[in-house]
Amino acid sequence: MKIAVASDHAGLDLKEIIKEKLLKEGYDVLDCGTRTPKSVDYPVFGLAGARSVAEGKADFALLFCGTGLGMTIMANKVPGIRAVNSQCLYTAGLARSHNDANVLCLGGRVVGPDLAWEIVRTFLTTPFSGGRHQRRVNLIRKQDGCLGS
Ligand code: RB5
Repeated sequence: MKIAVASDHAGLDLKEIIKEKLLKEGYDVLDCGTRTPKSVDYPVFGLAGARSVAEGKADFALLFCGTGLGMTIMANKVPGIRAVNSQCLYTAGLARSHNDANVLCLGGRVVGPDLAWEIVRTFLTTPFSGGRHQRRVNLIRKQDGCLGS
């Protein structure tokens, strides 16, 4: 499974920690930057990470900024992307099983590395439930222009 990761300066440390853990677990990782602590604009990197999923270059993207909020807002502008911000295992799991989310955004100033890793693992290993949730996701996809009317 290929996972895109991207961050701004405020999410960089957490991105690097999670990237290492992903590689150790055998995931393929596509790093869309940033790579230095220099202050950068989160929409640039959020867009790159989200696009990699929308274009089929990665299965999921993990985006890191200070809060995870700006990345979520940016990623959800990309058609086909269902991005969530999560701070606990409960929402990380439901984001997958109910919402079929394909982008997870985390705040490097909000969650510590251990909790972040558990959130990521929950997100990446929880399957979409389908059924009535598929109908609801299809309504979102239709709004995106990803499904015919
Ligand atoms: C950068 O200071 C901060 O605004 C950014 O990382 C993010 O939290 C925005 O949503």
